[in-house]
Order: sequence, then C-alpha cells, then structure tokens
Amino acid sequence: MSKTREEQKGNTKMTSSKQQHVSLLLLFLLCFLLLLPLSHAQREPNSTGYQCTENQNQTGNSCQTYVFYRAKSPDFLDLASIGDLFSVSRLMISNHSNISSPSAPLIQDQPLFVPISCSCNNINSTFGSISYAGLSYIIKPNDTFYLVSTNKFQNLTTYESVELVNPTLVATDLQIGTNAIFPVFCKCPNSTQLQNRQNYLISYVVQPSDNVSSIASTFGTDPQSIIDINGNNPELFDTIFVPVTQLPELSQPATAPSPSPTVSAPAESDDRKGTVIGLAIGLGIIGLLLILVIGVWIYREVLFKDKLWVMGDEERQRRQFYEGTEKKGMKEEGMKLMANVSDCLDKYRVFGIEELREATNGFHDSFLIQGSVYKGTIAGEVFAIKKMKWNAYEELKILQKVNHGNLVKLEGFCIDTEEANCYLIYEYVENGSLYSWLHEHKDEKLNWKTRLRIAIDVANGLQYIHEHTRPRVVHKDIKSSNILLDSNMRAKIANFGLAKSGCNAITMHIVGTQGYIPPEYLADGVVSTKMDVFSFGVVLLELISAREAIDEDGNLLWASATRVFEGNDEKEKARKLMEWIDRDILRETCSMESLMSVLNMALGCLHRDPSKRPSMVETVYTLSKSEEAGFESSDDGLGTPKLTAR
Ligand SMILES: *[C@@H]1O[C@H](CO)[C@@H](O)[C@H](O)[C@H]1NC(C)=O
Ligand SMILES: *[C@@H]1O[C@H](CO)[C@@H](O)[C@H](O)[C@H]1NC(C)=O
Ligand SMILES: *[C@@H]1O[C@H](CO)[C@@H](O)[C@H](O)[C@H]1NC(C)=O
Ligand SMILES: *[C@@H]1O[C@H](CO)[C@@H](O)[C@H](O)[C@H]1NC(C)=O
Ligand SMILES: *[C@@H]1O[C@H](CO)[C@@H](O)[C@H](O)[C@H]1NC(C)=O
Ligand SMILES: *[C@@H]1O[C@H](CO)[C@@H](O)[C@H](O)[C@H]1NC(C)=O
Ligand SMILES: *[C@@H]1O[C@H](CO)[C@@H](O)[C@H](O)[C@H]1NC(C)=O
Ligand SMILES: *[C@@H]1O[C@H](CO)[C@@H](O)[C@H](O)[C@H]1NC(C)=O
Ligand SMILES: *[C@@H]1O[C@H](CO)[C@@H](O)[C@H](O)[C@H]1NC(C)=O
Repeated sequence: MSKTREEQKGNTKMTSSKQQHVSLLLLFLLCFLLLLPLSHAQREPNSTGYQCTENQNQTGNSCQTYVFYRAKSPDFLDLASIGDLFSVSRLMISNHSNISSPSAPLIQDQPLFVPISCSCNNINSTFGSISYAGLSYIIKPNDTFYLVSTNKFQNLTTYESVELVNPTLVATDLQIGTNAIFPVFCKCPNSTQLQNRQNYLISYVVQPSDNVSSIASTFGTDPQSIIDINGNNPELFDTIFVPVTQLPELSQPATAPSPSPTVSAPAESDDRKGTVIGLAIGLGIIGLLLILVIGVWIYREVLFKDKLWVMGDEERQRRQFYEGTEKKGMKEEGMKLMANVSDCLDKYRVFGIEELREATNGFHDSFLIQGSVYKGTIAGEVFAIKKMKWNAYEELKILQKVNHGNLVKLEGFCIDTEEANCYLIYEYVENGSLYSWLHEHKDEKLNWKTRLRIAIDVANGLQYIHEHTRPRVVHKDIKSSNILLDSNMRAKIANFGLAKSGCNAITMHIVGTQGYIPPEYLADGVVSTKMDVFSFGVVLLELISAREAIDEDGNLLWASATRVFEGNDEKEKARKLMEWIDRDILRETCSMESLMSVLNMALGCLHRDPSKRPSMVETVYTLSKSEEAGFESSDDGLGTPKLTAR
C-alpha cells in the first residue's frame, strides 16, 4: 500500500489517461479501505460474544461442535481435568483427538478437540442473542472471571461475556462454591455453509505464532474460507471459527509402543519429548510390575494373618481393592468392577471403610436418607453414601462418563473387601427430593417459577446424557424422588443405578418405577431415550398438579391426564387445567401461556408412540421459552393472578 502512495506522490503531473488510471487506483484504494472495516465487522469482533439470530426453526440454532484446546500445566495436563472443565467425558475428548488411552498424561501444549454443544442464547430483547456453549463452573479460591476465561478456558471466552450471561453474580465479589456459566464461544454453520460442506466451525484461539495460512494448513482447509467467516485480520487471542467438512485427525506425540511422532497438524512433538515419554512409560510399566509383585506378596501375608487393613494411603487402598476381588472368589464380578474402577482411580477419591463407618456412626439408621443412602460428614464435608453390592460397576461406568451441573456428582468410592460391599460417595444435595417437596407436607410450597426452573434443570441434565455421551445413556428411572434440590433449589438428577448406556437395547428384565414406565417398555422392553422423555412428562404433570404418579388406588397420573385433556381444544384444555392444577400455584402470579405450554409439553412427552415424543433438546427449548413468557412481563408488582381463564 505504501508503494502505491509513493507512486501517487511522484506522479502529480500526468496525462489525462494516466490521471484516469490514478483515479481508478484511488477508487480501488477507497473501496479497499471501506471494505476492510466491513470485512472486520462481519466477524463482529465483539468482546461480549458472537451475535446470532434465533430463528423459529430450531434446527440451525444448536449444534455439536468442537473447540481446539491445548493441554497446559499445571492443572490441565490430563484428560480428566479437561473433561471436568468442559463437562465431557475423557473418552469423548480422546476419541476425537486421536489419543488411544484416555488415562495417559498429556504434554504441555498437546492439541485436543473437545466436543461442546453450541446454541444461540437470548440475553434480552434489546441486546439480542449470542452463540455459545454454556459451561457450568464452580468458583474456586482466587478465581476471577478474567483469570478463568484467559487461563483455564484459554481465551475461548471473555470476562465481558461471562458477566453478561451471569447477571446475578457480582464479578468483584465472587463467592467460592457458586456456580457460574462460562460461555465458550462457538458458532453453528448456516445453510450456505452446510451446502458448502462446512459442517463444523471449530472454535480456535489465535496464537502469537499464527497467521491465517498457518491456521488453514493446521486444519487442512483453505485460508479464504477462514477469512470469509472471520474477516481479514483476526487479532491475537481472539476466538475465530475454522470451517471444516470433518474433524481433522490430530497427530499426537507418540505415547504407545510406536516411538515415531508424526507431524501433520499443529503439534510440536519433537523427538526429545517422544523419548522422554517413551522413557516415562517404560518406567511406568516397570513400576506397575513391581507393584503387582509386591501386591501378590502382601496378599499372601494378609491371607495368612487374616488381618484387617488399616486405611492408609491411596496406593494401599488400591492394592487392597485388587486383592479383595480375588479373595472373595468373585472373580467375574470383581474383574468387571476392577476394569471399570481402575479407570476411575485417578479421577475419584478412594475412601476408606473406616472413614465411612465413622461418618455414619457405623451405618446407623439415624443417618439413613433413603433406601441404602446414608448421610455422612467426613473432614467437615457432607456426603451422601450409597451402599451397594458388587453391582456398583454399571453405575460407576456411567457416572465416570458424565459430568454436568444438573446431575448429582460422584465424589469417590470405597470397596469393603471384608463384607464384599462397594460404596459410592456423592455430593450431598441439601434440600432433598422433589418428591418430598411436592407430596410430603412441608410448610413451604414451591412456586411456579421454581417448579419451571426445576423442570428446565432436569431437562438439561437429560439432554446432556442423551445427546452428549457416547454411547448415549438412558437413565431409566426418572421420577420425582430421584430429582434432588440443592440449597438454591436447583435440580440435580440422582440415582443412575438402573441407567443403561447404548440405545435401543431390549431388556427382558423390566425395571423402573410404576407410574413412570412408558407403555412400550412394559410391552416389549425397548430401551430408548424416549423412555426418559416419557417419565419426564410424568414429572411435569406432578409439578403442575402436585398429584402423585400413582395414587393409593393404583390409578396412573399419566393415564388420567391423557384422559382429561385428550381431544380438547386449547380453551377447553385451559378450563380443565384450572380444575386440575395444584391449588398452591393458583394463588400466585404466573401467566396462563406458561402453564399451558408446560401442560402441552407434558402431554407431548406422554405420547403413546415413542417416535412422536419430543427429544430433550426440543423440550429444553420449549420450557425455556415458557420461562421467558411466564416471567418477563409478570414483574409488574400487581400480584394479581393472571389466571382468569374461565
Ligand atoms: C458489541 O456489541 C454491543 C451490543 O451489540 C455494541 O453495543 C458494542 O458496540 C459492540 N462492540 C464492538 C467492539 O463492536
Ligand atoms: C427448518 O429448516 C430445515 C432446513 O433448513 C427445513 O427443511 C425445515 O422445513 C424447516 N422447518 C420449519 C418448521 O420451518
Ligand atoms: C440487556 O442486557 C444489557 C447487557 O447486560 C443491559 O445493558 C441492558 O440494560 C439489558 N436490557 C434490558 C431491557 O434488560
Ligand atoms: C490465593 O492467593 C493468595 C495470595 O495471593 C495465596 O496466598 C493463596 O495461596 C492463593 N490460594 C490458592 C488456592 O491459590
Ligand atoms: C489470553 O489472552 C491474554 C491477553 O488477552 C494473554 O495474556 C493470555 O496469555 C492468553 N491466554 C492463553 C492461554 O493463551
Ligand atoms: C452464512 O454465513 C456466511 C459467512 O458468515 C455468509 O456469507 C452467508 O451469507 C450466510 N448465509 C446465510 C443464508 O445466512
Ligand atoms: C505464516 O507463518 C508461517 C510459519 O508459521 C510462515 O512460513 C509463513 O510465511 C507465514 N505467512 C504469512 C503470509 O505471513
Ligand atoms: C493418529 O494416531 C495414530 C496412532 O497414534 C498415528 O499412527 C497416526 O499417524 C495419527 N494420525 C495423524 C494424522 O497424525
Ligand atoms: C470412539 O470411537 C470408536 C470408533 O472410532 C467407537 O467405536 C467408540 O464407541 C468411540 N467411543 C466413544 C466413547 O465415543
């Protein structure tokens, strides 16, 4: 450009034809200068996030996409902690990142593709919507929105955007333990892009060493397509979106036997790192062998002395656990559990049985919460402790893969070899089950806003297990007593004891809870995500009516609801709803549209034909809409019920 300017300076005296040329050139220059900010504006270099238009047609609004993330010391050098940060399982990261062993440690700056679910989220009517994947994050000591965005999320979001999506949190006064949403920037391809086979727009943060062509070659795409979407000069540490037809395969530094690291993608895997890792693995294998030998030796010692282990360090617990499975002669069950649990050892805390006994006064009845779940305090922290037999492995297997704010979190486990019990230790959820709030007499009643919030929380949790786990997980026992409420009355799904991963399986052995089981499951035992959708429909009916899923006479709530509301027009439905609804809701301000839309949602979920039931994605969308509809306009302070549909 400077060259053209010099040319112009030097040629002040010119022929008319030359002048024409120059004016053309000037015009070109002008256009160029005008276009520059334009192409920039197209990218919306907005620190609060990337605007999107929420169209009525939901399909283009949300998508499964990926972020490019780099493993970083000290906290993010293993897939477990990165998985926790992004609420995905380690397997989902390793599978997409060309890593064969999910439990292997990572090296500094190792490239990863982390799957996220991206959607267009409304902020408010004046601001509009921005496109992001909202990740739950629990505030830890010394966290600020800025530090978490720039360090942990590696600039995939900005503190401005975090402030925007967490309007209730005060950035300067963050309480440790509160849950914040971190909006990781993402975009879903529009119809033109899909036609051009740009199936994913991968979120990528520009690094100091990058330029557009280097990024393009990393992803195996062409620079122009990146410019089309992100403008000409993305700034350092901006999140840009790289369009690809399919996820490129990353080349990872060698970890397994083959010691030759390939370089085709962004990895900086030099031979030295490879050697160091190879060495580390070698040493690791030797170490494992040593432990095994020592283990066998100790096992013999124990067998002869028949001495109870005093719980000590984690290593000893592991050893004890391995031996225990052998000692009890439960080889098969034990082996299965071992295979699953050994994968969890690095992710979960291993508790000692003495610790649990002490916490629950020897599993005294007064510590019983429900079923075989006890409340226990260990080192000042309260936990829910579930006593199980060796069948814990199914639940462990599933819980290991899930991590979401609306699912009760597994904190650790314990194997008691003496009595052949296995214990799962969960976070303690303060306010008990939704069932007790709805059906057992409490002085405090849930208002409609809280109920709707609970419904959305449960729907989000289900959406997560249905859509974001591979293979999909079906809970199989959704009911109000398996929905727990925390201190902020936010809901968490508990009890994955019956859950199944893998879909469309057929079970001969019918499990579940009367009143929540869909008819097709009773008929032919088909397990699908639509089974949870049905049970969720029953929970919605409970929220609306405060009636039990099955009454003393054995009448099913879902059957009576479909009878009452079937085949009515909306007006008639609204009239019937007034008779059917929980009296406690009637006393408060909430909009009829909100109630009707939840009722219709519930009836949709209860459709006899599973394929006609909505997916949880649609359910979340509709419920969020009715939440907006119900409360944006109801803050008029009049307090008069708008429920006058008679
Ligand atoms: C970001 O978006 C907001 C709202 O649309 C707008 O007011 C602001 O000017 C934008 N900032 C930039 C840098 O474009
Ligand atoms: C939604 O969009 C898809 C693809 O763009 C189209 O096939 C479908 O008909 C649309 N649905 C509605 C209800 O507009
Ligand atoms: C919408 O959100 C923006 C950003 O948080 C805020 O400045 C504005 O006041 C909000 N408008 C309304 C009507 O709530
Ligand atoms: C928080 O910061 C203080 C002072 O900067 C430091 O002493 C403390 O160790 C930090 N805590 C954590 C958990 O990093
Ligand atoms: C994020 O951006 C800030 C500057 O905006 C930079 O100092 C920091 O190093 C970046 N973080 C990462 C992980 O690249
Ligand atoms: C899709 O996005 C591209 C790049 O932002 C834009 O050029 C194109 O017009 C968009 N297409 C539609 C149908 O919105
Ligand atoms: C981009 O960076 C690569 C090395 O990272 C370099 O070889 C190349 O010349 C750069 N291209 C441009 C246009 O600057
Ligand atoms: C993916 O990983 C395998 C095994 O580690 C390796 O052989 C292959 O080259 C990798 N793919 C790429 C594109 O580097
Ligand atoms: C990982 O990918 C393989 C095939 O590529 C597939 O069989 C397996 O189910 C995947 N695992 C997960 C957890 O997605």
